[in-house]
Amino acid sequence: MENQDRAPLVDALKEYQKNRPVYFCIPGHRYERGLGRRWLTEEECGILKYDLTEAQGLDDLHQPQGAIREAQELLADLYKADKSYFLVNGTTCGNEAMLLGTLKEGDEILLPRNVHKSVLQGLILGGARPVYLMPRWIEDAGVSGGISPEDVKAALKARPAVKAVFLVSPSYYGICCDVKAIAGICHEAGVPLLVDEAHGSHLYFTDRLPKGALLQGADGCAQSFHKTTGALTQSSVLHIRTERIPPDRIEKALKLVQSTSPSYLLMTSLDNSRYELACRGKEMAEKALELASFARREIRRLPHMRCLGKDQLPDGFWAAGLDETRLVFGCENMSGYELQKILRNEYRIETEMSDFKNVVAIVTFANEKEDLEKLLDALKGISKRAGERPLACRNLPMPKPAPVVMTPREAYFSPSRTVRWEDAVGMTAAEMIAPYPPGIPLVCPGERLTEEIFEAVEACRKQGCHFHGPQDESLAFFKVIEKEV
Ligand SMILES: Cc1ncc(COP(=O)(O)O)c(C=O)c1O
Repeated sequence: MENQDRAPLVDALKEYQKNRPVYFCIPGHRYERGLGRRWLTEEECGILKYDLTEAQGLDDLHQPQGAIREAQELLADLYKADKSYFLVNGTTCGNEAMLLGTLKEGDEILLPRNVHKSVLQGLILGGARPVYLMPRWIEDAGVSGGISPEDVKAALKARPAVKAVFLVSPSYYGICCDVKAIAGICHEAGVPLLVDEAHGSHLYFTDRLPKGALLQGADGCAQSFHKTTGALTQSSVLHIRTERIPPDRIEKALKLVQSTSPSYLLMTSLDNSRYELACRGKEMAEKALELASFARREIRRLPHMRCLGKDQLPDGFWAAGLDETRLVFGCENMSGYELQKILRNEYRIETEMSDFKNVVAIVTFANEKEDLEKLLDALKGISKRAGERPLACRNLPMPKPAPVVMTPREAYFSPSRTVRWEDAVGMTAAEMIAPYPPGIPLVCPGERLTEEIFEAVEACRKQGCHFHGPQDESLAFFKVIEKEV
């Protein structure tokens, strides 16, 4: 292991501050003077002094040779990757770059149908052809499981032209796939395994949590450092193993999907987070785990309340592990949407996401016991006044995939027309519909809309879900391909 005691980019920026030159570069706020005092007083500017550019000694993300290169090498060393990259446009651009860097237009990729919309964006940019696998449904918990090694094996046998396999692990709900077994199957078939590990950058520091994807043989993974490890919003990383993923293609792709003016604030926060993880990653991950485990135990003691635990994972390799720092809970007398609203409006508790059955709270090392106690007090109060009669709050399983009539890219660039939403069944979608969060598309461009998917979107609409994708968010109208093929 390299000397992880360093934080080269943080140090380079600190050094730069010691003798600020007269500044005629971007950004134009000139050492915070021009930021606008309605927003920030001079004393409040704090870390904004790190908002600089590729000035002397500060290196260049797109051609790193100094502090950024060193910082990325330390990151790769910590995560046991061959190469790691800072991302200033979230895991969104990491997923896009993994697809652009491993596939050519028309190549087939095997992936679960419940991927995040950033993966769909990668398919649109690169023109790959999706071959979907359905995640299994865990009815009791009302969440999607992962993808099983058997399903991957069978699909690779049936589609020998597949060029890569993509997984989401852990999911938004903390469900992990058996990455090790799937990596073995992929490598036997000679294809790389790419993993969206947006929610899993903390899984590398304790053996009390499922193992991170790279440690299990994945060839590439993107992680949102901002979700679980204390970096600023948008700060993510991409790790690769170079045996099956050519770094030059990844680097070319990253130039395409990242700003030419990457934020030094974000990159410094990544260097700093890596440093923190190197110094005390185990302590951080285990603190989150202990807090969440305490809350899980207590929630499960409350009448009418439930909280997803490892004991609910059915036998079978399609849900091989649970990230127990994630709290997925619900009340049998109300929908997850209602419960989230009550927590927000009556108890001033903000949770990450809700669905028909569950509320998702992300617990990190930076939470304190007091936060969990407040959540428990609120749930105690809600449980007392919840009626005795359980409601049938069944979660909606992911509908069966619709026929893929054209690739997402072909559909994106095809001429479209607008129809009334209720007339759209049987037509090919020209736009995406993804309830947000979690940003998993129910409708992808290029898919022929089925009755089942229409009903799933309607059910979300009735709950007042917010949608990403359609130009008309009210869904009075919807865009379909002009000429059906
Ligand atoms: C599973 C998954 N993948 C990718 C992303 C995109 O990550 P980012 O917000 O860092 O761009 C998200 C965001 O919520 C996500 O949940």
